[in-house]
Amino acid sequence: MKAKIVAATSVLAASVAAQQTTWGQCGGIGWTGATSCVNGAACTSYNAYYYQCIPAPTTTAGRTTTTTTRVVTTPTTTSRVTMTSRTLTTSTRTTTPGTSSRTTTTSSRTSSRTTTTSTRTTTGASGSCPTNFVSTSGKEFRLNGKKFYFAGSNAYYIPMYGPNDFGDMDAALDAFAGSGLKVLRTWGFADFAGPQQDYVTVFQNWSTVPPTILETQEAGLPRLDHVIAGAEARGIKIILPFVNNWGDYGGIDLYVQKVVGSGGTHDAFYTNTAIKNIYKNYVKTIVNRYKNSPAIMAWELANEIRCAGTTLSASSSCNPSVTTAWAKEMSEYIKSLDPCHLVAVGDEGFFNIAGRSEYVYNGGPGIDNAALTALASIDFGTFHMYPIPWGMSWDWGNQWILDHAAQADTLNKPMVFEEYGVTRDSGLRDTYHQQYHNTVFANSIAGDMFWQFGTTVPNWGKSYDDGYSIYPSDTYEWQTFVVDWAAKMASKNT
Ligand SMILES: *[C@@H]1O[C@H](CO)[C@@H](O)[C@H](O)[C@H]1NC(C)=O
Repeated sequence: MKAKIVAATSVLAASVAAQQTTWGQCGGIGWTGATSCVNGAACTSYNAYYYQCIPAPTTTAGRTTTTTTRVVTTPTTTSRVTMTSRTLTTSTRTTTPGTSSRTTTTSSRTSSRTTTTSTRTTTGASGSCPTNFVSTSGKEFRLNGKKFYFAGSNAYYIPMYGPNDFGDMDAALDAFAGSGLKVLRTWGFADFAGPQQDYVTVFQNWSTVPPTILETQEAGLPRLDHVIAGAEARGIKIILPFVNNWGDYGGIDLYVQKVVGSGGTHDAFYTNTAIKNIYKNYVKTIVNRYKNSPAIMAWELANEIRCAGTTLSASSSCNPSVTTAWAKEMSEYIKSLDPCHLVAVGDEGFFNIAGRSEYVYNGGPGIDNAALTALASIDFGTFHMYPIPWGMSWDWGNQWILDHAAQADTLNKPMVFEEYGVTRDSGLRDTYHQQYHNTVFANSIAGDMFWQFGTTVPNWGKSYDDGYSIYPSDTYEWQTFVVDWAAKMASKNT
């Protein structure tokens, strides 16, 4: 998930012959077709690479555009826009120093630093890895010598609590473990340029180039240490991405802006040597820090790589072979540092199939899930799913799951349904969560991780709700789609 849709009607020149149909492409870099939409749809910038005709929100009272502004303590200004055919919800999150009511205490800090380096069996000369590390066997995962089908979730925000909000981290991890969810995906990146603010988590400070990694400062990696150690103590496995395709917490655009400058395109990230070396240095620091921890299920190259990002567009030379070559280089690099943890790409699962016209199947985002997952240094495939912003339907979601289960069958590698959700406002949440779970359960999907886990913790309060979150207070959904579902997926392991 992402700030991937920018509502921007009338951003295009109006010189148009034909009008594009609903859900059709209506602009973006390289686009030469119609740039206006039929009545009832608005040409909307999905990213600089792709604009599409989205049905306009209805004007019925209560179903019109809603904008909320929430001030939270995150290190970047973030826009998240969630669209459905009936609603358009925008939230803007802004960093505002001094608004936090939380207090700083340093008492819990010392204890948290040491736990992640617990005694571990190292990879012996035999090449065997610890059995309490997750491994793969064909299309399945293994853990402690047994099958490891799982339900998990995303909670990107847990390392972002601070300062010294270890009580909040512990409370969130307790709630996660208590739900029965087994795998947590959370952000292993926090790229930031600017003056230090105590409660803003910063793993990599881009005030200088090359950036500085905050290895010891409280605002930096000690926060991630506490999450990894806390997961280890609770038997939670973590999937940890190293950079964001999107602008939240810095992201690829920040790398490009800082290293290449104003003329840089998003995909310079995949080809520029200086950028690749900075990324590798960050990866090396994180991997070496936690390489002995059984809490790490998998390193992930990035969250949702694409040719284009939030603010920077793609160059004309970017295509799936560029992102695949980058993924090969970086995954091989990680394997050279740590041969015992799994490595995944973290892509959205887009296909690049000749003859297909839909954006999600035609390579348009610059991604080829089949090629990425087939890489020898990639252990399992990932896919995400946001049907409505992608111009597809909720029903089609079942097909998308089947498409990736078929990919798992073909490649004989596990496939993880790593992000998806149904917005609360759609009124279809129960219907489609149930359908998707049924499809997952009956097909070759090794792990299922909805976006995202909602919780309420002492200092921070309720976790940010982008419309997709499921909280314990969503009583039926929590019980059915979190607690019972986790138990059902685990039943495959007996
Ligand atoms: C980043 O570095 C700059 C320059 O050294 C410094 O002024 C700033 O406080 C640093 N920010 C963080 C978050 O450490």
